This record gives sequence, structure tokens and C-alpha cells, in this order.
Amino acid sequence: MRHTRIIVTHYGGPDALRVVEDECPEPKDGEVRVRVLAAGVCLPDIMAREGVHPETPPLPFTPGWDLVGEVDRLGNGVFGIEPGQVVAALPIHGAYADFVCLPQRELVPVPSGLDAAEAVSLVLNYITAYQMLHRSAKVKSGQRVLIHGAAGGVGTALLQLGRLAGLEMYGTCSSRSAPAVSDLGGIPIDYAHQDFVKEVHRLTSEGVDVVFDPIGGTHLWDSRKALRPGGRVVGYGLRSSLRGEGLASGRPGRRQRFRGTAIFGLFIAGGWLLPGRKRVVPYSIQTLKRLKPEFFRQDLIALFDLLQQKKINPLIAQRFPLAEARHAQELLEKGGVIGKIVLVRNRSSLGSAAAALAASEIAAS
Ligand SMILES: NC(=O)c1ccc[n+]([C@@H]2O[C@H](COP(=O)([O-])OP(=O)(O)OC[C@H]3O[C@@H](n4cnc5c(N)ncnc54)[C@H](OP(=O)(O)O)[C@@H]3O)[C@@H](O)[C@H]2O)c1
Repeated sequence: MRHTRIIVTHYGGPDALRVVEDECPEPKDGEVRVRVLAAGVCLPDIMAREGVHPETPPLPFTPGWDLVGEVDRLGNGVFGIEPGQVVAALPIHGAYADFVCLPQRELVPVPSGLDAAEAVSLVLNYITAYQMLHRSAKVKSGQRVLIHGAAGGVGTALLQLGRLAGLEMYGTCSSRSAPAVSDLGGIPIDYAHQDFVKEVHRLTSEGVDVVFDPIGGTHLWDSRKALRPGGRVVGYGLRSSLRGEGLASGRPGRRQRFRGTAIFGLFIAGGWLLPGRKRVVPYSIQTLKRLKPEFFRQDLIALFDLLQQKKINPLIAQRFPLAEARHAQELLEKGGVIGKIVLVRNRSSLGSAAAALAASEIAAS
């Protein structure tokens, strides 16, 4: 059987993405083949395509951090899971494909009746937001937080989960995204036209308890200035590596996985050494998952529960078919996207997935 997947042929711009058709992968011992129903499109995919994300694989590779799919075939030695069951996973790369083979231990069951695109939003963005709030910052009701990139995939998840936790929230965003940030309970600060440090001190006088910073570089230092004494910056991204000199597009690409990480170390050390009890701490979903896989599973189950109870409502900016992955990444890079872009397989409702699949197989026979 053949299937479609996307590959990155060189480190660089969107032209590095190719649609290819090849043999469907066969599950090895202990693996499960999953038919992908929804794969998330995120900034880390773009950073890996550019060769500047710490998790960038060697070329050629299939991008795609997060997926929701249906169990299709079991390898030897796999028990306790059935074909047709809907599962979620964070493979870090490989999700931009019709089929993926993954070790059984990587799969988390998805409750029935959820929309695949909404469910996949939880796997990377909401876990990142949830773990930063509750495991890194350990926020308490009534605390003040500043969320950078508040209208983006992780940013909107932080706003929704921060509201549930009873936080007072400020969010940097572009002016076009300000209404979305206000709707989610954040006080918008226009990052392009306002000095966020001054603005935070004007609005709060002493500063905020926590800043969530996905920008990295010297931006971390400005974020530290927005803290009250005793506060902490949770640094979780190096978006700044996609700017100016760091952008590999249009140049012969190289893998530069650790660009930007040294400066991170410097700011973490500075946070401990300088007066003011203001810390900079790093967060990485993949590192925490490798060290504590049970946290990832527990937190994803808790988030599926919140989604089922409609206490969270992932914003889906747009759904694209898999073959249009390049357009999806171009849209995300252009900016102004509110929420998550998702690559979907035909219909994305989990309830209807089996029926849609049966119908397509009848039509093909
Ligand atoms: N450490 C981890 O485990 C982890 C996990 C997931 C994601 N991440 C990181 O999280 C970040 C966000 O990812 P995403 O997929 O949510 O991206 P996204 O959906 O593209 O969101 C990024 C947002 O940042 C805004 N932005 C751009 N420049 C900004 C600036 N200077 N100040 C404030 N906001 C700015 C953009 O606003 P406009 O478009 O309106 O300009 C956009 O809303 C990335 O850096 C990614 O690597 C880290």
C-alpha cells in the first residue's frame, strides 16, 4: 500500500517542502501503525525546516510534532490496543503523513466524540501551556502573568488555561490580534508599537509574577525587567533565531541546532547571580517528556477531560489537507494567525472518522 507524506529536502524556506508518495511503513515489533487524522502545524516545524530548532533531524525528514490518528495495524508484541481506536502522540517529527509507525508506549488514548483538530491542539500547545503554568511556574490564583505571543498557538492555550487558574493576564501581540487576546481575558500590549516593560510597570506598578517568553535571546532580559522581585521568566522558545541573520531561507541551509541556546544559559546564570530574586528558567516539552513520560500522559489525559467538559476551546485558525502543508506553513510564517493551523485527513470529526474511512474504502473498491 502507498501513502502520501511531506519531506523537507534541504534546510531553508517553504520551497524545501515536497509532497511524496511512497510505500506505507510497516510496524516493527512493539510498534503501532497509525492513520493520521490531524497533524498540527507549529513554529517548531518551521524552525526545524530552517535547521535552527534543537530537535532538527538530519535530511531528508518528514516534519510534524503532534498528531491524532486511528490505530491501523499492530506490530508483534502489541497488546491492549485495538485497530480503530483513536490515539494521540508527540513524535516531534513525522506527523505530516498519511501513516506513521510509533512505539505503543508513545500513544495516549483520545476520548470518543472529540474533533481531531481540536484534540491535536492539546498535544503540543496545551501541554506546553499547562506544564509551564502548573509544573514550571506553579501559578496561584490572583497572580499576574505576562504572556508573549498571546494570540498564537501556545499563547491562546496559556490564556484559556490561565483564566481557569484565576490569573490576571497581560499579553503581547500585534494590533490586529488584540481583540482575540481581550476576548480570552488578557490585556493586550502591542509588541510592535509599545515598550512592554514600561507598559507592564505602568499597569501593575511592581511588575508581574511570571513572564512566559517564547522569543529568547536578549528579549529574555527585557522580560526579566517586567518581573516583580521574586518573580520568574519561563523561557520556552528561540523565535528570535528565525529573524534576520538567523533565517536560513534563501541561503544554502545548514543545520544550526544550538544557535541561541548559549545566550539562554547566560540569562539563567544571570538570574541566579544578580540581585532582585528574579529567575529565568527554561521549559522544554520534549526534555520533560523524556525525563518524566508519566507527566506527559497524565497532563494530556487531564486536558482531554477539560476539552470534553468544554472548559477549554482550542481555536483552530485554519484546516488544510496534508498536500497543502506548504501553504499552511507559509500562512503561519506570515503572522497574524490566531490559534492553531491543522493538517487534516478528509473529515476531522473523530466520531465520523470510522464512517468516513469505510465510505472511502467502499468508493475505492
Ligand atoms: N519549549 C517548548 O516545549 C515549546 C513547545 C511548543 C512551542 N514552543 C515555542 O513556542 C513558540 C510559539 O509557537 P507557536 O506554534 O504557538 O507559534 P505561533 O502560533 O506562530 O505564535 C507565535 C506568536 O508570536 C507573536 N509574535 C511574533 N513576534 C513577537 C514579539 N516580538 N513579541 C511578542 N509576540 C510576538 C505572533 O504574533 P503576530 O503573528 O500577530 O505577529 C504570534 O501570535 C515558538 O517559539 C516555539 O518554538 C516551545
